[in-house]
Amino acid sequence: MCAYNITWSKNFRTGGLPITIHLTTEIAGLELANPTILAAGILGISGLTLKRVAKAGAGAIVTKSLGLKPRSGYKNPTVVQVDGGLVNAMGLPNPGIEHFSQEIKETKGIATPIIASIYAFSPKEFSIVAEKAIEIGADGLELNVSCPHAHKTGAEIGQDPRLVEAVVKEVKRIVEKPVFVKLTPNVADIARLAKAAEMGGADAITAINTVKAMVIDVETATPILHNKIGGLSGPAIKPIAVRCVYEIYSAISIPLIGCGGICNWRDAVEFLEAGASAVQIGTAIATKGPRIFKQISEGIKSFLVKKKLRSVREIVGTAHKK
Ligand code: FUM
Repeated sequence: MCAYNITWSKNFRTGGLPITIHLTTEIAGLELANPTILAAGILGISGLTLKRVAKAGAGAIVTKSLGLKPRSGYKNPTVVQVDGGLVNAMGLPNPGIEHFSQEIKETKGIATPIIASIYAFSPKEFSIVAEKAIEIGADGLELNVSCPHAHKTGAEIGQDPRLVEAVVKEVKRIVEKPVFVKLTPNVADIARLAKAAEMGGADAITAINTVKAMVIDVETATPILHNKIGGLSGPAIKPIAVRCVYEIYSAISIPLIGCGGICNWRDAVEFLEAGASAVQIGTAIATKGPRIFKQISEGIKSFLVKKKLRSVREIVGTAHKK
């Protein structure tokens, strides 16, 4: 496990004895070497890329969202760069849960927990995909009830607290491994959805998925994405995501994972202070590469040293005391 022995030159707590800084983080029984997690959708589609991210220092890895059947997704263009991030509408392309077993096999030997992001069109189908995901070797699940532009799945489920609760209940009836629920910010009261997930038996909440968005080419008056509507990710959504984490933290008692625009250790610490126990990183990988995981971990470690703290746990939710 990733722990660091650091001696503070003038350590008032120990009189100069070595201090162990703990970056290790436990989420719903999963032991993470550090609180950085690969977000769903980026580099999570093959065994090789999953391995690459693990070697780069991620504490856990979430796959691209997987469904019961292979799905080709939308036609191009599926991604457009904007000020402050990316707008994407891929349309949940994936090889289907059974074909993904080959990719999971390729990750054999890495200690980093692998979380399968899954989507489906009904509570029953969610439980079928969930069972298969565990069978092929996932260490946990993240239920995608938040894709902002898919029909009859994603946020169309995740905007309805009763459906969210029903989906989680059905999945938890079948699987024993940890189940995270990734929520959409495109609702009036995200804490209500988090509570519904907790009621259904969720082990952790991931907040947030992308913010519903659109880009139009001005000269031709044409929506740029083939699907017209997509989801905005990247630094532009970070304050929205921090607000969501802050609101959810007071409403639930299960752990929270922050996601949305995290580009450096300061962003990560902001999410921890808002109430997240770990953070997911996605869009920033496009510009900074997988080394961002180590950079953020090192930055959090230096922050703990500067504040004379010993563990990530000590920062979680501290903004609620102010
Ligand atoms: O288009 C996509 O595959 C996006 C999925 C998501 O935002 O969850």
